[in-house]
Amino acid sequence: PDKAVAAMARQEQETLAALNQLIARSEPLVPGATRAVLGEGPLGAALAIVGEQPGDQEDRQGRPFVGPAGQLLTAALEEAGIDRAQAYLTNAVKHFKFVQRGERRIHQSPTAGEVKHYRWWLMKELGLVRPRLVVALGATAALALAGRSVSVLRERGTMSFGDWDGFVTVHPSYLLRLPDEGQRERARSDFVADLRRVSGLL
Ligand code: URA
Repeated sequence: PDKAVAAMARQEQETLAALNQLIARSEPLVPGATRAVLGEGPLGAALAIVGEQPGDQEDRQGRPFVGPAGQLLTAALEEAGIDRAQAYLTNAVKHFKFVQRGERRIHQSPTAGEVKHYRWWLMKELGLVRPRLVVALGATAALALAGRSVSVLRERGTMSFGDWDGFVTVHPSYLLRLPDEGQRERARSDFVADLRRVSGLL
């Protein structure tokens, strides 16, 4: 039985790799992105974390959550006692959508239609990873996972995402955008508290 389990795990790894190849070869729905940024983390991870879309740094480096929001997420996870390397991290939308302003590439939110376009992949991906709990960071991830629009501030916390037990919280880039430092501190500690609850659910 151990051999059979190992063979199945290998097969799933290959299926995920094939799925990722499909994503990597697909045309970005919005032209301009350098590449598709694929999910990262172990198959069978207890926790999957879903963001909105890659940002400028993720698009350049080809890895999810490596820019400012990703660094905030990584630090908040650590504070909450969650090892990022043990979690599966991915995005609802796999390509960076932006408008060019001189040197800068300014993030643009994906439309509901764009979220829907990528949803098939996200569902396949999670079906292979088979996490015990899926965390949606922000409204776009929650829309993709719940299949309906979700008010993050009103529905924050546990929620069912069809096949998966889910948890909705804010997106870390929301914390970065808050103008007032005190507000930012409070919102950050609420975010860490959410991640502690998540850790308790695993
Ligand atoms: N924000 C996201 O939603 N995903 C990333 O990968 C990076 C920033």
